[in-house]
Amino acid sequence: PLVTTKEMFEKAYEGGYAIGAFNVNNMEIIQGITEAAKELNAPLILQVSKGARNYANPIYLTKLVEAALEDTGLPICLHLDHGDSFETCKSCIDGGFTSVMIDGSHLPFEENIAVTKRVVEYAHDRGVVVEGELGRLAGVEDEIKVSAEDSSYTRPEEVYEFASKTGVDSLAIAIGTSHGAFKFKGEPKLRFDILEKVTEILPGFPIVLHGASSVIPEFVEMINKYGGDMPGAQGVPEELLRKAAESAVCKINIDSDLRLAMTGTIRKHFAEHPSDFDPRQYLKPAREAIKQMVAHKIVDVLGCDNKA
Ligand code: G3H
Ligand code: 13P
Ligand code: NA
Ligand code: ZN
Repeated sequence: PLVTTKEMFEKAYEGGYAIGAFNVNNMEIIQGITEAAKELNAPLILQVSKGARNYANPIYLTKLVEAALEDTGLPICLHLDHGDSFETCKSCIDGGFTSVMIDGSHLPFEENIAVTKRVVEYAHDRGVVVEGELGRLAGVEDEIKVSAEDSSYTRPEEVYEFASKTGVDSLAIAIGTSHGAFKFKGEPKLRFDILEKVTEILPGFPIVLHGASSVIPEFVEMINKYGGDMPGAQGVPEELLRKAAESAVCKINIDSDLRLAMTGTIRKHFAEHPSDFDPRQYLKPAREAIKQMVAHKIVDVLGCDNKA
């Protein structure tokens, strides 16, 4: 069966590595990720956003993830990414997810506590774990402004009260990452001092890093070379992610790198094979590119190979 993140996070925390949480939207993405994890014997979190559920129809993604589970025999957690309400979380819990995120980070502190606590009570009664969030990541739409400066970092003085009042199983924090392919204007910088303070206040508590794609330059170049237009795309450098993985960070969220691998590979394929029109012709190399990219993450960034 699908597993929760409980044991995964305990082992990751102890072992100084992190589990990759990859966003999934269709069969090829799921297959690319799980084939890499299977070859490397890595535990996996496959996460589904509200947008992904709207795109694919929830039942399709759930069944595809169940197929991946049967195919690989790996410990796989099916997680709701950025749950926006109690109702969305409940729907996923009722539908067989083993983990949900309730993202109340945009709410006033007391309201974030209230909605998170409500989700935790419903989830824990059904053996499901919950991720909460404190602090706000800069959004893609904020990129025109000074993105990192505009986001509000997690305030360490709030984390103890939040964790103890809500009962959450893990906590996403804002230390300078952001979603999407344009994370930094100049020098990439993460506030590891905030992470350290949070870890001192909540020793042993699993921390989650969102917006953690490295926006792999090879794929950005491929996109720009074959007709795309993504000047200035920049992500979190791998050495910073490795440093995070060695710390209390137990879950590293990756979506943009999957999108870039898929898009770059498909653009290249069409440029080189303009008469192809069978979706298998271009989705096969895209799936393979995802597999290679995820394998690299597992071995060289997350350190979770052979931890299944
Ligand atoms: O955090 C956002 C993830 O990249 C999911 O994006 O809401 O467009 O599916 P999405
Ligand atoms: P990226 O946009 O950096 O891949 O972040 C994904 C994420 O945080 C999903 O919740
Ligand atoms: Na870790
Ligand atoms: Zn996120």
